Amino acid sequence: MSDDAIQSVLQENRQFPPSEAFSADAHISSDEQYQEMWQRAKDDPDGFWGELARENLDWIEPFDQVSEGDMPDTKWFTGGKLNVTQNCLDRHLDNWRKNKAAIIWEGEPGDTRVLRYQDLHREVCRFANVLKQLGVETGDRVTLYMPMIPELAIAMLACARIGAVHSIIFGGFSADAVAERNNDAQAKLVVTADAGWRRGKELPLKAAVDKSLEKSPSVEKVVVVRRTGYEVEMVPDRDYWWHDLVETASTECEATPLDSEHPLFILYTSGSTGKPKGVLHTTAGYLLGTTMTSRWVFDLKDDDTYWCTADIGWITGHSYIVYGPLANGATTVMYEGAPNWPDEGRFWQIVEKYGVSIFYTAPTAIRAFIKWGDDWPGQADLSSLRLLGTVGEPINPEAWMWYHRVIGGERCPIVDTWWQTETGGIMISPLPGATATKPGSCTRPLPGIVPEIVTKDGQSLGDNQGGLLVMKQPWPSMLRTLYGDHDRFLETYFSEIPGCYFAGDGARRDEDGYYWIMGRVDDVLNVAGHRLSTMEIESALVAHPKVAEAAVVGFPHDLKGEGICCFVTMTVEDDSEELKAELTSHVREQIGAIATPDQIRFAAAVPKTRSGKIMRRLLRDIAAGREQIGDTTTLEDYTVLAKLREEEE
Ligand code: WT7
Repeated sequence: MSDDAIQSVLQENRQFPPSEAFSADAHISSDEQYQEMWQRAKDDPDGFWGELARENLDWIEPFDQVSEGDMPDTKWFTGGKLNVTQNCLDRHLDNWRKNKAAIIWEGEPGDTRVLRYQDLHREVCRFANVLKQLGVETGDRVTLYMPMIPELAIAMLACARIGAVHSIIFGGFSADAVAERNNDAQAKLVVTADAGWRRGKELPLKAAVDKSLEKSPSVEKVVVVRRTGYEVEMVPDRDYWWHDLVETASTECEATPLDSEHPLFILYTSGSTGKPKGVLHTTAGYLLGTTMTSRWVFDLKDDDTYWCTADIGWITGHSYIVYGPLANGATTVMYEGAPNWPDEGRFWQIVEKYGVSIFYTAPTAIRAFIKWGDDWPGQADLSSLRLLGTVGEPINPEAWMWYHRVIGGERCPIVDTWWQTETGGIMISPLPGATATKPGSCTRPLPGIVPEIVTKDGQSLGDNQGGLLVMKQPWPSMLRTLYGDHDRFLETYFSEIPGCYFAGDGARRDEDGYYWIMGRVDDVLNVAGHRLSTMEIESALVAHPKVAEAAVVGFPHDLKGEGICCFVTMTVEDDSEELKAELTSHVREQIGAIATPDQIRFAAAVPKTRSGKIMRRLLRDIAAGREQIGDTTTLEDYTVLAKLREEEE
């Protein structure tokens, strides 16, 4: 096999065309219509995107130019002014949607709250006024470190209302991770909660913020939502209760007119090297991308009840719980807790309770559902469902078939959506009324998206040859920079294949033009649908006084897709279980629970090539059990194996 091609072992021939009934009512209702749109967008991107932006967004001032400049520094809709919240809220208030449910929220303990578009508008205005009162100005950064409660969506939109830039940090991250992100963004204010519910336990958040602030001096004020009643310390003149502040705030707040390229948010994501990358998205392009893809891919209609199970702390929640659905005037369901609390039937009870019609989740969750058994979904009425989606990692065809059969009752199309934090919105995905799906394939690029499979040297590859997945044309919702580090942005995404966007995935395209994602080609793990940098886990490990060296690799994991295996060399003679536990909790503390190692292996030395590069392929083989090595392996064994491998390479 040539060095450039990536071998693909997956063979899948089943096909599932959309039913006539589904196609008849769909926004994009035939393959011809899709082909036509795609070709038009490829031939005349400015005409295509310009028309969509004029027809689907509300502008305060119209734009002069659709796109300006080549990738990577393309600007979109320059000269235009708009406000995202006017598009997500105000424009639904002068028609019947004012009393439509915008957000249906379900708390983990079973409490609920429904915010109609009018209510959401009022709450957003209130909190926008609070932010102003606390000194937040257009362009300031605000960290949101919150559970999945309505106040999180309200706080995001309140930032957008006044042009403050939100940086949401997933509630599972540790105090150190919060401090690092606060510092990178130079955040002025943090919004948090006393705690969040997770499987009946309280996950303290305010306490973590307190700890993070010792190391992040840019933060001047903290707003705290009372969620669980967990005890917190309030620092005078720094910390304020959300409920006290909003009580007296006006429910009217003019939306600030913002330039199309005004920053909307920063979201930190892992890369293969260095600290987390602050992916920056801007106003008009991101809004247009999420608006159109929500409509095309989820076929959103006014009578849908749409539920995306992601956490808003990740890009999926930003784009497809909040911005995309609300811009379409949809009803979006938001659930606070775990899928197996109080029992493994919780998700299906929620589907039944609200009559959810569109359900979007991750393959890692689907594998857990399979493991819990068909009885749980079997006990609920799932007949309201009409469309299913997945995101986060490749879905194995057997999990796809289970989802199709048990959840979809063999009647719901499945949209396997490929995209990334950096792309802002869905890039490659079936259109449910137009595309015949194949289990395990994210099928074809959406209109306006022009992917290609290339070798490391940028040579285009033909059908069924695995290579690097790149984008040849810019698109409106792409990231604009890495916050505060434009050089790193250019280096990370545009240097590997000159003239193209490349963010780390391998893929092949089959004879029907369908894409099959083969996973990441860099040192980034995909653990339960979330990107984790091996390098960050390694640096967390070596920060421990007893660790001399560390190498982290992924291995196949039944539920999580990839598990985390850490090879560590110690500075002391100790290979006890206690030490393993200590290192495990050390990593959790440094990064967060999502980075909890699955395996810790003590090694007398980490195998390296003569040039000093960690031999990751060998370690991956060992972690996956493909290379048999006992627990008592010594320095010599590894070195010998390493040397052997090196000869082969
Ligand atoms: C990486 C992006 C986009 C929201 C969730 C994760 C993998 C994502 C798919 C899919 C195969 C997928 C890729 C990608 N990925 N969706 N449908 N099929 N792989 O966002 O943390 O930015 O991760 O997730 O490897 O590069 P993210």
